Amino acid sequence: MIEAEWWEYDSLEELADAVGGDVGFIVESAVDARGASLIALPGGTTGPVIFPRLVSQQLPWKKVTVIPTDDRLVPMDDERSNVRAIAKAFLPAGARVIPIATEIPDYKLAGNSADARLQDLPWPPDLVWLGMGKDGHTASIFAGPDLQEALDAPKARRAIGVMPEPMPVDAPVPRVTLTRASILSARTILITVTGDEKRAVLEQAIADGQSSKVAIGRVLSEVDQPIDIHWCP
Ligand code: 6PG
Repeated sequence: MIEAEWWEYDSLEELADAVGGDVGFIVESAVDARGASLIALPGGTTGPVIFPRLVSQQLPWKKVTVIPTDDRLVPMDDERSNVRAIAKAFLPAGARVIPIATEIPDYKLAGNSADARLQDLPWPPDLVWLGMGKDGHTASIFAGPDLQEALDAPKARRAIGVMPEPMPVDAPVPRVTLTRASILSARTILITVTGDEKRAVLEQAIADGQSSKVAIGRVLSEVDQPIDIHWCP
Protein backbone atom coordinates (compact mmCIF):
# COMPACT_ATOMS: atom_id res chain seq x y z
CA MET A 1 0.00 0.00 0.00
CA ILE A 2 1.47 3.32 -1.12
CA GLU A 3 1.22 5.82 1.77
CA ALA A 4 0.99 9.26 0.16
CA GLU A 5 0.26 12.58 1.87
CA TRP A 6 -0.94 15.35 -0.46
CA TRP A 7 0.08 18.94 0.30
CA GLU A 8 -2.02 21.40 -1.72
CA TYR A 9 -1.15 25.01 -2.52
CA ASP A 10 -3.01 27.81 -4.29
CA SER A 11 -0.06 28.70 -6.49
CA LEU A 12 3.30 27.45 -7.74
CA GLU A 13 4.95 30.24 -5.72
CA GLU A 14 3.39 28.90 -2.51
CA LEU A 15 4.39 25.35 -3.44
CA ALA A 16 7.92 26.49 -4.23
CA ASP A 17 8.32 28.21 -0.86
CA ALA A 18 7.10 25.10 0.99
CA VAL A 19 9.17 22.58 -0.97
CA GLY A 20 12.25 24.82 -0.79
CA GLY A 21 11.87 24.89 2.98
CA ASP A 22 11.36 21.13 3.24
CA VAL A 23 14.40 20.33 1.09
CA GLY A 24 16.50 22.84 3.02
CA PHE A 25 15.57 21.07 6.25
CA ILE A 26 16.52 17.69 4.75
CA VAL A 27 19.92 19.03 3.65
CA GLU A 28 20.64 20.71 6.99
CA SER A 29 19.62 17.60 8.98
CA ALA A 30 21.79 15.37 6.80
CA VAL A 31 24.87 17.55 7.22
CA ASP A 32 24.27 17.73 10.98
CA ALA A 33 23.94 13.96 11.17
CA ARG A 34 26.54 12.76 8.66
CA GLY A 35 28.65 15.74 7.73
CA ALA A 36 27.44 15.80 4.12
CA SER A 37 24.29 15.52 1.99
CA LEU A 38 23.44 13.92 -1.35
CA ILE A 39 20.21 14.99 -3.03
CA ALA A 40 18.73 13.92 -6.39
CA LEU A 41 16.66 16.57 -8.15
CA PRO A 42 14.18 16.34 -11.02
CA GLY A 43 14.37 17.59 -14.55
CA GLY A 44 11.52 19.39 -16.23
CA THR A 45 10.14 22.88 -15.66
CA THR A 46 8.86 22.81 -12.06
CA GLY A 47 12.20 22.15 -10.39
CA PRO A 48 13.92 25.26 -11.74
CA VAL A 49 11.10 27.42 -10.32
CA ILE A 50 11.76 25.94 -6.87
CA PHE A 51 15.58 25.73 -6.92
CA PRO A 52 16.09 29.47 -6.19
CA ARG A 53 14.06 29.10 -2.96
CA LEU A 54 16.53 26.44 -1.94
CA VAL A 55 19.83 28.05 -2.91
CA SER A 56 18.83 31.31 -1.26
CA GLN A 57 18.94 29.55 2.12
CA GLN A 58 22.08 29.76 4.28
CA LEU A 59 23.02 26.06 4.09
CA PRO A 60 26.46 24.35 4.14
CA TRP A 61 26.46 24.06 0.36
CA LYS A 62 30.09 22.98 0.13
CA LYS A 63 29.03 19.76 1.89
CA VAL A 64 26.17 19.12 -0.52
CA THR A 65 26.31 16.97 -3.66
CA VAL A 66 23.50 17.32 -6.18
CA ILE A 67 22.67 14.80 -8.92
CA PRO A 68 19.84 14.77 -11.46
CA THR A 69 17.37 11.91 -10.97
CA ASP A 70 17.75 11.42 -14.70
CA ASP A 71 19.03 13.17 -17.77
CA ARG A 72 18.60 13.33 -21.46
CA LEU A 73 21.55 12.16 -23.60
CA VAL A 74 22.27 15.60 -24.98
CA PRO A 75 25.27 17.96 -24.55
CA MET A 76 25.29 19.81 -21.21
CA ASP A 77 24.80 23.14 -23.00
CA ASP A 78 21.62 21.84 -24.63
CA GLU A 79 18.51 23.44 -23.10
CA ARG A 80 17.00 19.97 -22.77
CA SER A 81 19.78 18.94 -20.36
CA ASN A 82 18.50 18.44 -16.80
CA VAL A 83 21.94 18.88 -15.21
CA ARG A 84 22.31 22.22 -17.05
CA ALA A 85 19.42 23.72 -15.03
CA ILE A 86 20.69 22.12 -11.81
CA ALA A 87 24.26 23.36 -12.31
CA LYS A 88 23.01 26.86 -13.12
CA ALA A 89 21.19 26.98 -9.80
CA PHE A 90 23.52 25.11 -7.44
CA LEU A 91 27.13 25.66 -8.60
CA PRO A 92 27.07 29.38 -7.68
CA ALA A 93 25.92 28.38 -4.16
CA GLY A 94 29.04 26.22 -3.81
CA ALA A 95 27.41 22.79 -4.08
CA ARG A 96 29.01 19.93 -6.03
CA VAL A 97 26.92 18.96 -9.08
CA ILE A 98 27.58 15.57 -10.70
CA PRO A 99 26.36 15.08 -14.29
CA ILE A 100 25.23 11.54 -15.14
CA ALA A 101 24.69 11.86 -18.89
CA THR A 102 27.64 11.29 -21.19
CA GLU A 103 27.77 11.71 -24.96
CA ILE A 104 28.12 8.00 -25.60
CA PRO A 105 25.98 7.15 -28.66
CA ASP A 106 24.88 3.78 -27.27
CA TYR A 107 22.33 4.64 -24.56
CA LYS A 108 22.85 1.34 -22.73
CA LEU A 109 26.57 2.07 -22.44
CA ALA A 110 25.69 5.61 -21.34
CA GLY A 111 23.63 3.98 -18.61
CA ASN A 112 26.64 1.94 -17.51
CA SER A 113 28.70 5.14 -17.40
CA ALA A 114 26.01 6.91 -15.32
CA ASP A 115 25.92 3.97 -12.93
CA ALA A 116 29.71 3.99 -12.56
CA ARG A 117 29.66 7.69 -11.65
CA LEU A 118 27.00 7.13 -9.02
CA GLN A 119 28.83 4.12 -7.56
CA ASP A 120 31.53 6.55 -6.42
CA LEU A 121 29.06 8.46 -4.23
CA PRO A 122 28.10 7.69 -0.62
CA TRP A 123 24.63 6.11 -0.87
CA PRO A 124 21.66 6.30 -0.32
CA PRO A 125 20.61 9.84 -1.23
CA ASP A 126 19.12 11.88 1.58
CA LEU A 127 16.41 12.91 -0.88
CA VAL A 128 15.04 11.79 -4.22
CA TRP A 129 12.70 14.50 -5.48
CA LEU A 130 10.56 13.31 -8.38
CA GLY A 131 8.51 15.07 -11.00
CA MET A 132 6.02 13.30 -13.26
CA GLY A 133 5.12 13.65 -16.89
CA LYS A 134 1.52 13.67 -18.17
CA ASP A 135 2.21 10.14 -19.44
CA GLY A 136 3.02 9.05 -15.89
CA HIS A 137 6.78 8.76 -16.36
CA THR A 138 8.95 9.72 -13.43
CA ALA A 139 12.65 10.48 -13.46
CA SER A 140 13.23 8.94 -16.89
CA ILE A 141 11.45 5.70 -16.15
CA PHE A 142 9.07 5.47 -19.11
CA ALA A 143 6.90 2.92 -20.80
CA GLY A 144 8.96 1.15 -23.42
CA PRO A 145 11.49 -1.64 -23.94
CA ASP A 146 13.56 -0.67 -20.89
CA LEU A 147 10.77 -0.22 -18.33
CA GLN A 148 11.13 -3.67 -16.80
CA GLU A 149 14.89 -3.29 -16.45
CA ALA A 150 14.42 0.06 -14.68
CA LEU A 151 11.91 -1.57 -12.33
CA ASP A 152 13.74 -4.83 -11.71
CA ALA A 153 17.37 -3.68 -11.63
CA PRO A 154 19.09 -5.05 -8.53
CA LYS A 155 19.66 -2.79 -5.49
CA ALA A 156 23.32 -2.46 -6.43
CA ARG A 157 22.44 -0.90 -9.82
CA ARG A 158 21.93 2.82 -9.40
CA ALA A 159 21.32 3.97 -13.00
CA ILE A 160 20.56 2.60 -16.44
CA GLY A 161 20.10 3.88 -19.98
CA VAL A 162 16.55 3.98 -21.38
CA MET A 163 14.87 4.52 -24.73
CA PRO A 164 11.32 5.82 -24.13
CA GLU A 165 8.68 4.36 -26.41
CA PRO A 166 6.71 6.32 -27.43
CA MET A 167 9.20 9.16 -27.29
CA PRO A 168 8.10 12.17 -25.21
CA VAL A 169 7.30 15.15 -27.42
CA ASP A 170 9.33 17.69 -25.45
CA ALA A 171 12.58 15.74 -25.41
CA PRO A 172 12.51 12.85 -27.89
CA VAL A 173 15.92 11.50 -26.94
CA PRO A 174 17.29 8.50 -25.03
CA ARG A 175 18.05 9.04 -21.37
CA VAL A 176 19.81 7.79 -18.28
CA THR A 177 17.83 7.41 -15.07
CA LEU A 178 17.98 6.27 -11.48
CA THR A 179 16.50 2.79 -11.22
CA ARG A 180 13.40 2.05 -9.11
CA ALA A 181 15.62 0.49 -6.45
CA SER A 182 17.88 3.52 -6.24
CA ILE A 183 14.90 5.90 -6.10
CA LEU A 184 13.27 3.88 -3.32
CA SER A 185 16.55 3.62 -1.38
CA ALA A 186 16.37 7.35 -0.58
CA ARG A 187 15.98 8.42 3.04
CA THR A 188 13.18 10.74 1.86
CA ILE A 189 11.12 10.78 -1.34
CA LEU A 190 9.01 13.74 -2.39
CA ILE A 191 7.01 14.41 -5.53
CA THR A 192 5.99 17.71 -7.10
CA VAL A 193 3.17 17.79 -9.64
CA THR A 194 1.11 20.62 -11.07
CA GLY A 195 -2.29 20.75 -12.71
CA ASP A 196 -5.46 18.68 -12.52
CA GLU A 197 -4.49 16.34 -15.35
CA LYS A 198 -1.27 15.20 -13.69
CA ARG A 199 -3.03 14.96 -10.30
CA ALA A 200 -5.57 12.54 -11.79
CA VAL A 201 -2.82 10.45 -13.40
CA LEU A 202 -0.87 10.25 -10.13
CA GLU A 203 -3.92 9.48 -7.97
CA GLN A 204 -4.86 6.63 -10.33
CA ALA A 205 -1.27 5.36 -10.41
CA ILE A 206 -1.15 5.26 -6.61
CA ALA A 207 -4.51 3.48 -6.46
CA ASP A 208 -3.39 0.91 -9.06
CA GLY A 209 0.10 0.35 -7.63
CA GLN A 210 1.84 -2.70 -9.14
CA SER A 211 -0.92 -3.04 -11.77
CA SER A 212 -0.60 0.59 -12.80
CA LYS A 213 -0.54 1.27 -16.53
CA VAL A 214 1.94 4.11 -15.98
CA ALA A 215 5.55 4.00 -14.86
CA ILE A 216 5.20 6.01 -11.64
CA GLY A 217 2.63 3.60 -10.25
CA ARG A 218 4.98 0.70 -10.88
CA VAL A 219 7.89 2.62 -9.32
CA LEU A 220 5.96 3.59 -6.18
CA SER A 221 4.31 0.18 -5.77
CA GLU A 222 7.35 -1.07 -3.84
CA VAL A 223 7.91 2.02 -1.73
CA ASP A 224 8.33 1.30 1.99
CA GLN A 225 8.11 4.82 3.35
CA PRO A 226 5.42 7.53 3.34
CA ILE A 227 5.69 9.99 0.45
CA ASP A 228 4.85 13.70 0.46
CA ILE A 229 3.21 14.91 -2.75
CA HIS A 230 3.17 18.67 -3.30
CA TRP A 231 0.51 19.88 -5.71
CA CYS A 232 -0.88 23.11 -7.07
CA PRO A 233 -3.38 23.83 -9.86
C1 6PG B 1 12.50 14.40 -17.56
C2 6PG B 1 12.18 14.79 -16.16
C3 6PG B 1 10.78 14.40 -15.79
C4 6PG B 1 10.17 15.60 -15.12
C5 6PG B 1 8.68 15.52 -15.19
C6 6PG B 1 8.05 16.78 -14.59
O1 6PG B 1 13.69 14.46 -17.89
O2 6PG B 1 11.59 14.17 -18.34
O3 6PG B 1 13.08 14.38 -15.22
O4 6PG B 1 10.68 13.26 -14.97
O5 6PG B 1 10.60 15.68 -13.77
O6 6PG B 1 8.29 15.36 -16.53
O7 6PG B 1 8.30 17.81 -15.45
P1 6PG B 1 7.61 19.24 -15.17
O8 6PG B 1 8.25 19.74 -13.91
O9 6PG B 1 7.97 20.05 -16.38
O10 6PG B 1 6.14 19.00 -15.01
